[in-house]
Amino acid sequence: MTIRWKHVLALIVILPIAGLLIGWSGLIGIRASSGHWAVTDWFLHWVMRSSVSTAAITVQAPPLDNPALLPPAAGHFESGCATCHGSPAQARSTAVLGMLPPPPDLKGVIGSWTDEQLFEIVKHGVRYTGMPAWPVQTRDDEVWAMVAFLRRLPDMSSGQYTAMAGLATGRQVARMSAQAITCDSCHGEQRLGEDSLIPSLSGQSKTYLMNSLQAYVQGRRPSGIMQQAVSTIPEDQLREFAAHYASQPQPLHRSAADRSLVARGQELAEKGRAADTIPACLSCHEREGGNAAYPHLSGQKVPYLETQLRLFRGGVRGGSSYSHIMTEAAAHLGDEDITALAAYFAGRESVGP
Ligand code: HEC
Ligand code: HEC
Ligand code: HEC
Repeated sequence: MTIRWKHVLALIVILPIAGLLIGWSGLIGIRASSGHWAVTDWFLHWVMRSSVSTAAITVQAPPLDNPALLPPAAGHFESGCATCHGSPAQARSTAVLGMLPPPPDLKGVIGSWTDEQLFEIVKHGVRYTGMPAWPVQTRDDEVWAMVAFLRRLPDMSSGQYTAMAGLATGRQVARMSAQAITCDSCHGEQRLGEDSLIPSLSGQSKTYLMNSLQAYVQGRRPSGIMQQAVSTIPEDQLREFAAHYASQPQPLHRSAADRSLVARGQELAEKGRAADTIPACLSCHEREGGNAAYPHLSGQKVPYLETQLRLFRGGVRGGSSYSHIMTEAAAHLGDEDITALAAYFAGRESVGP
């Protein structure tokens, strides 16, 4: 009995030391060039699948059939995922195929995952593989948009993909980089339908646009899509982009909505509701000669306005150093207030009462 315990104790001391010695000796191969043994490959992927399945048990997918989810996700896929996974517009590079494990061509594997499992993988990434987590963890709506897109990817032709992501076509000859994403791929006025989740930038003040871009760069306004879009662009170029969009004419088209809904929104926008400490929106927004850091809202689409108001209300929207006043303004809005306000501003003619 005593001898056995001594053996066990000796093992407990010796094993870690032996482990360290083997590590130190350099005998363990870390060369990606030699690959994994088939059994290691199988084991790692099995662990990954089991882990994702367990984590996804508590996740519930929202409805994902809204087509407006697809364009921003497709654009993000091309700039943030296709370098590793390839896309209908670009193949995986030799460098990427040399990764261990190599990022799979997703067309063939999406069908083996549920929406909830895809959500887990895209939101949290996969350790020790190079598969990164979504850049922001505080909002799930963008991740669900990506899941909606991935679900459609296996059946997508390159033409459909190019159109959905808004990739620049035209002179393809001798173009080295597959990156054909521009700001207009997402923000181009002609691409913004009634149900768009992407804001119009045209005619917004240069100050507000630049404040917003800096807020994305510095992570003060959480959006994985916009943080990826601005991540490699130098500040002086962002200034040029802000100036460019500020000089564009505001979109003329206004959304039509139920008149009684619009009237309720208008009442709240003009007078606020003191009982719930909701201020009059028009005391800050849409004023001729008003503070350039307060964006104008007229002509933005209903889904974009609603999303932003919900994010403000939940305290996660962030933004410039002025954004806390908007967080307070939205704190007590009810769901019906948000619907009415979005309908009012989406249909409102710009600046001036
Ligand atoms: C730096 C390279 C890299 C980038 C960028 C990347 N991934 Fe991955 N991804 C990987 C690797 C490597 C794996 C394989 C993980 C494994 O097999 O355990 C993977 C796995 C996945 C899987 C699971 C596929 C399967 O069955 O193994 C999905 C889904 C996925 N990635 C989606 C995305 C999306 C969406 C994006 C962009 C938001 C993205 N990835 C960006 C490297 C990358
Ligand atoms: C893949 C699609 C995509 C691309 C590419 C993209 N954007 Fe965006 N942009 C979005 C989405 C989606 C939002 C809303 C994000 C949020 O909820 O904060 C947004 C928001 C913005 C805002 C905030 C507007 C507001 O009213 O608050 C600015 C400014 C902006 N983008 C500028 C740019 C510029 C400049 C570029 C090019 C460098 C660019 N975007 C590229 C999708 C995109
Ligand atoms: C005290 C001034 C003030 C009041 C009152 C106010 N806002 Fe704002 N609002 C702001 C500021 C400042 C921002 C810009 C935040 C930032 O820097 O990103 C903003 C941003 C917004 C945005 C985001 C626009 C975009 O392009 O992303 C919406 C939507 C909005 N406000 C709606 C409203 C509504 C609806 C009300 C009334 C319930 C309201 N605001 C009341 C100051 C105000």
